[in-house]
Amino acid sequence: MQRLLVTGGAGFIGSNFVHFVVEHTDHLVTVLDKLTYAGNLESLAGLPAERVTFVKGDIADASVVDPLVAASDVVIHYAAESHNDNSLHDPRPFLDTNIIGTYVLIEAARKHGKRFHHISTDEVYGDLELDDPERFTEETPYNPSSPYSSTKAGSDLLVRAWVRSFGLQATISNCSNNYGPYQHVEKFIPRQITNVLDGIRPKLYGKGENVRDWIHANDHSSAVLAIIEKGRVGETYLIGADGEKNNKDVVELILTHMGQPADAYDHVVDRPGHDMRYAIDSSKLRDELGWSPKYSNFDSGIEATITWYRENQDWWRPQKAATEAKYTEQGQ
Ligand code: NAD
Ligand code: TYD
Repeated sequence: MQRLLVTGGAGFIGSNFVHFVVEHTDHLVTVLDKLTYAGNLESLAGLPAERVTFVKGDIADASVVDPLVAASDVVIHYAAESHNDNSLHDPRPFLDTNIIGTYVLIEAARKHGKRFHHISTDEVYGDLELDDPERFTEETPYNPSSPYSSTKAGSDLLVRAWVRSFGLQATISNCSNNYGPYQHVEKFIPRQITNVLDGIRPKLYGKGENVRDWIHANDHSSAVLAIIEKGRVGETYLIGADGEKNNKDVVELILTHMGQPADAYDHVVDRPGHDMRYAIDSSKLRDELGWSPKYSNFDSGIEATITWYRENQDWWRPQKAATEAKYTEQGQ
């Protein structure tokens, strides 16, 4: 049993991780989360109080972070500003949280000699052409495109420097696009599902040819646990489940599962600098740590996710109107 400090545990992937830890391990969890627009305490509802403690606070505030890191065995750092579209309109919070927040956390982990795991994204590698036979590996050079991905890249480099210069006991994982329950309605898949539930046509940026490498959030969680348990300190592991799909195919799948004509969507203005394709080679994680994904059937994963959004309207409705109003303003 270990004491885990999970930053960003009221967000999409962090809350799925906390549920996963409670179900599959005997670890104790403290969640540190600022509850920005993206954080939702309801995502942690029903978890046993003797296993999960919640602290509201900012990871960039050393006076909050320091005692929590001191009282933990492992820090797992999910907290971030996470949406590319927001980063194009207001980059500042991305620097404050993703760069300064990560700096404050690794300083505390260094001071108290704690094991640190940094959660990152494949978007730090930039993008691939649609016909490129290569996929991202741990050796791919960093080449981020957006304010979001560049601040995530910056945070990864800080962690790497703290490992090398100060002997920080850290690992890093870069995962592909996640889907599953508790994802904010600003993101692609939940936006389209909740649009259809609300009688709004799904919105596809540009031609919809862009490819994302989808992984279920539970598979991300099992990979992070494997890295914490068996990963080599100082190493980076890419997490992916061979789930490449273009956006048009995903929208058509959602519409079909929801009983609509497959072409009942609109093309809207494209995202500036829109990355064309992400694709992960996760051989290192699979070969070294024996990890493999369990939710590889995207079709049934999407069906289950649609059911979750249908059955949990109280969870997402409070955010929906404001999110769509913002997109409408942006022509998206
Ligand atoms: P999210 O936006 O759903 O959740 C982020 C959480 O962090 C929220 O609960 C928010 O309140 C909290 N937070 C934000 N700023 C904070 C601060 N200053 N102090 C404390 N808490 C703060 O994000 P997500 O999609 O769950 O992503 C989680 C992590 O996974 C991020 O680091 C992201 O870069 C990474 N990631 C995401 C994906 C994806 O597909 N969503 C893929 C790979 C990696
Ligand atoms: P998103 O969920 O924002 O994740 P990311 O930018 O990290 O990949 O978007 C996933 C893909 O879906 C991306 O190619 C942009 C596209 N997209 C749409 O086509 N329509 C939408 O309404 C949204 C939000 C995204």
